Amino acid sequence: MAIEKNISLRPYNTFGIDAKAKSFCDITTIENLKHNLAEYANQPFFVLGGGSNMLLTKDIEALVLHINLKGIEVLEETGDKVIVKAMAGENWHEFVLWCLKHNYGGVENLSLIPGNVGTAPIQNIGAYGVELKDIFVSCEAVHIQSQNVRTFTEEDCKFEYRESVFKQELKGQYIITSVNFELTKTNHKLSTDYGAIKQQLENLDIKAPTIQDISDAVIAIRQSKLPDPKEIGNSGSFFKNPVISIDQFKQLQENFPEVPSYKVSDKMIKVPAGWLIEKAGFKGKRFNNYGVHNKQALVLVNYGNAKGSDIYELALLIQKTIKRIFNISIETEVNII
Ligand code: EPU
Repeated sequence: MAIEKNISLRPYNTFGIDAKAKSFCDITTIENLKHNLAEYANQPFFVLGGGSNMLLTKDIEALVLHINLKGIEVLEETGDKVIVKAMAGENWHEFVLWCLKHNYGGVENLSLIPGNVGTAPIQNIGAYGVELKDIFVSCEAVHIQSQNVRTFTEEDCKFEYRESVFKQELKGQYIITSVNFELTKTNHKLSTDYGAIKQQLENLDIKAPTIQDISDAVIAIRQSKLPDPKEIGNSGSFFKNPVISIDQFKQLQENFPEVPSYKVSDKMIKVPAGWLIEKAGFKGKRFNNYGVHNKQALVLVNYGNAKGSDIYELALLIQKTIKRIFNISIETEVNII
């Protein structure tokens, strides 16, 4: 595949930031990926997937490899289970729709998450009570230096809340090319405990939901709270929900008795960053052409032509303010480039 020069990355990132790539290569086969890695092994790379979890604060000097590998196939089938392989460049939601069309269950709670299949394991995407790791079997990845292909099992991936080995010790070393999922054909295991889903199903008077009903409910909830990147640039949750000690939580509760929380373990509690940001007065704040979404304070938005560096400055201001008011550090979920 030819290398293009000086191209705008605006169509390739959901924040809609107009940063440039000095050189850019669209990768549509694994052979081509290996070839490029071997040929340009001694220069820096930037691996671009769905562009849904990054904020570009500058132009990219490194060679951008756009992972555009396509294809979905059934690898194995038993009476009630199926193993499906999806290539890294498949759009995540298109993949969810494909599963629903075939009545394969397990991904319905993850409807409408922006991004691609290949980047989903990196941060163990999750929503409404389900995480990618719940349906993950393995993924294949190419080692950037050696171009060897390696299969990673669930254990190898070391999944945690919005975390995996690909964000930690193996960061920047592998390119995921495909992911295998185990899905149900019958006896679907539905996750309807998440408050908003329960409420949505009740509102529609659905007593025995199908996987399609759950997907529809999730889509309705997401559309009511989260901006559509096609209309307003964004990367979903900009920050991770902080996990703090019980002692720190008790202190917080003394000053803010209404603070929502989720127990993580006997010692740790997760606090919604969206609540902290709203409480700090940032929800719906607009600074010229960027700001904080008015329906979900965890989401920073580009109203058009904003610079990534401006949005990053806003993120730093939010982090500093949260630290000052609540003595809590919040980390970005989005990769700052
Ligand atoms: N909240 C506020 N104000 C806000 C936003 C939230 O007070 O502006 C409060 C809500 O009232 C609720 C709590 O915070 O009590 C949790 O809110 P919500 O259910 O919207 O979930 P979240 O913790 O803010 C997480 C994920 C989302 C995911 C939802 C649903 C993270 C960082 N974010 O958000 O993921 O869709 O749960 O499962 O864990 C994403 O990663 O891009 C993403 C959107």
